[in-house]
Amino acid sequence: SRNGLDFKVADLTLAEFGRNELRLAEHEMPGLMALRAEYADSQPLRGAKIAGSLHMTVQTAVLIETLTALGADVRWVSCNIFSTQDHAAAAVVVGPNGTVDAPTGVPVFAWKGETLPEYWWCTEQMLTWPDGSGPNMLLDDGGDATLLIHKGTEFEKAGAVPSTDPNDSEEYGVILDLLRASLAKDSTKYTRMGEGIKGVTEETTTGVHRLYELAKTGDLLFPAINVNDSVTKSKFDNKYGCRHSLVDGINRAVDVLIAGKVAVIFGYGDVGKGCAESLRGQGARVIVTEVDPICALQAAMDGYQVARLEDVVETADIFITATGNKDIIMAADMAKMKHQAIVGNIGHFDNEIDMAGLAKVDGIKRNTIKPQVDEWIFPDGHTIIVLSEGRLLNLGNATGHPSFVMSNSFSNQTIAQIELFTKTDEYEKQVYVLPKHLDEKVARLHLDALGVRLTELSKDQADYIGVHVEGPYKPDHYRY
Ligand code: NAI
Repeated sequence: SRNGLDFKVADLTLAEFGRNELRLAEHEMPGLMALRAEYADSQPLRGAKIAGSLHMTVQTAVLIETLTALGADVRWVSCNIFSTQDHAAAAVVVGPNGTVDAPTGVPVFAWKGETLPEYWWCTEQMLTWPDGSGPNMLLDDGGDATLLIHKGTEFEKAGAVPSTDPNDSEEYGVILDLLRASLAKDSTKYTRMGEGIKGVTEETTTGVHRLYELAKTGDLLFPAINVNDSVTKSKFDNKYGCRHSLVDGINRAVDVLIAGKVAVIFGYGDVGKGCAESLRGQGARVIVTEVDPICALQAAMDGYQVARLEDVVETADIFITATGNKDIIMAADMAKMKHQAIVGNIGHFDNEIDMAGLAKVDGIKRNTIKPQVDEWIFPDGHTIIVLSEGRLLNLGNATGHPSFVMSNSFSNQTIAQIELFTKTDEYEKQVYVLPKHLDEKVARLHLDALGVRLTELSKDQADYIGVHVEGPYKPDHYRY
């Protein structure tokens, strides 16, 4: 705590560097800056107490300062132990008008390289205002903040936290420990918190999947907006963002020539499509694996070989998981790979690659080359290189997606926050997507910067195809 502000970041003296990068990013985020201008006077988020859990990067810093510019009181954490950019976190804490000694910005609890107990401690701090109260809005990426509140409420209702099962993941054990300590101090903390929240806006495919599960069983505690499935999010961030940041992550990690290598992308959804193009653009020979016949056919018609892991495990050079599913590459697979094969994941969680199994291989050794780059040495002497310990490599080894694409995602986030906060009564405890006219608005805010000249429909043409001159231009079922 300093100057009355509670926070925990790596190094506040990085704030000036962070502020410089924020300033450059603002110019590349026209959607967010347009929303700041549009809502400067009306302050639609005045009274909102937003708890945010989303990679604490330069781009997220511009989102945070957009939310505060619209009147919100904000607290923040990263949704991944490796994704924080420490200079961005410092700049947000210091704030545009503060100093290192007297910060006036937003409380951030995030640094690059947290342990799992630290990560969940940060999440609890983010959810706990200095007066002990909770947030009234959530902004989540992957659903960890949402999960903590739902699990906390469930255990408080039951009156006890279950004891840790040896089959639980290390991370779930950490969550149980945290909630056990919380329950001992305050037996209704998370229940009250859940009741006080007007809604959550969720950033990613994996978090959205968790929300639909909760809604299906009737356990969702508050309304949710699925930001991921705005067209201007998943068809841009997931695809073009990964097309940029996948090779960025691989290059910063290992700097091997990608041209001519054989690369395998697991999953040909939005992320996989961007990843495959990213590596093809560098001259790799790309192979795709899929379970869905539609996506497999898309991959084939986009010119990729579609195979199974077993067909290529011994011959490929680079393996990237992008499925949002678990157990995609197992320890036994990694044992069969070529010497110095590169293995990484760009899906949300670290269970796509069997890291726990890898560590348990008889006689295996781990040699850390540098943070987030590990060489695993098998007993026969051959090695593989694992990026970011199997966590999102584009954020662990590089700096995630660049500003312009995140401006699209975060404009959707900002609009979704305004929706749920100002029109709470119109939403039930279900999962919603933003209406198409708002999706089109987000795209429109990014056209001028790219010099795009849109053609205007005549009234006659609009009538002929059955739309309004000012949009929406497509029915809801259109897929882009
Ligand atoms: P998606 O649902 O569009 O694509 C996933 C694809 O994987 C699907 O086509 C599915 O059929 C396929 N798949 C599932 N199980 C498989 C298996 N066992 N083998 C091969 N393919 C399999 O999801 P999307 O939007 O592409 O997201 C994927 C993951 O990436 C999610 O966890 C999401 O949260 C995350 N994500 C990460 C980003 C980053 O910057 N690192 C950005 C956006 C999303």
